[in-house]
Amino acid sequence: MEIEQYPSTDFNAVTMLKWYVDCGVDETISDTPVNWFEHSEKDIQNQHVKRNSSTAAKTVANVPLSTNREIIEKAEKLAAAAMSLEELRQAILEFDGCSLKNTASNTVFCDGNSQSDIMLIGEAPGADEDRIGKPFVGQAGQLLDRMFAAINMTRENDFYITNMLPWRPPGNRKPTDGECAMCLPFVRRHIELFNPKMIILVGGTSASALLNVQTGITKLRGKWVDYTLNNIKVPMMPIFHPAYLLRQPQFKKQAWHDLLQIKERLGSKESK
Ligand code: URA
Repeated sequence: MEIEQYPSTDFNAVTMLKWYVDCGVDETISDTPVNWFEHSEKDIQNQHVKRNSSTAAKTVANVPLSTNREIIEKAEKLAAAAMSLEELRQAILEFDGCSLKNTASNTVFCDGNSQSDIMLIGEAPGADEDRIGKPFVGQAGQLLDRMFAAINMTRENDFYITNMLPWRPPGNRKPTDGECAMCLPFVRRHIELFNPKMIILVGGTSASALLNVQTGITKLRGKWVDYTLNNIKVPMMPIFHPAYLLRQPQFKKQAWHDLLQIKERLGSKESK
């Protein structure tokens, strides 16, 4: 791809936007997050709220973006009322407690084989997933598919995949603890309804949220833990996130070791 020089002599707004796109810019966000729930619909519609204004900055400073009990309770109620995966998808579509929904293009729910035994839980949609509406379809997703293909597993046949958050955090930033906490009831219900025989936590975000620890993925990965589901212990293992492996390929050796453990454990299991 040829990247145009900037500033060019025939500079105009379109040229500049094109230049940004060529450089990989896919999001227009400011340095400070804005709590859009603090502003009325009318404010937002009239675009009176300027992201960089001192009012917005003050709002952010005064209102922690972490969630509160009420929002979590609402998520718990909606999740508990869902009796099927489709009802859960609808419940998430109805849930307005998480402001990430306001900036996302799609609610990303799941992909893969819903009749399989294995459930993978990633972090959150990225730009490609947000655009297409399915988890793990971008570069990291392609690596994830190759990782599982190496142990003879495909997403079409052998596993089902979802994320901790169904909405893309702007600019692919790491989800906050508050965002994870308000989406956790949906993920827990997702696990109950899917009823897996094995859970793989893809990356540190889903690992720390579901294990309720602050420990990093480097320490958590490769170790089996039990997830109690309807009084039955389901084996669960955190693994490195493929996006991390793309940035830090030297950790692929450990990732391979973890995949072999998964393969070995599955070898001794019957299918659903
Ligand atoms: N990373 C994730 O954790 N999930 C996706 O769906 C895509 C990238």
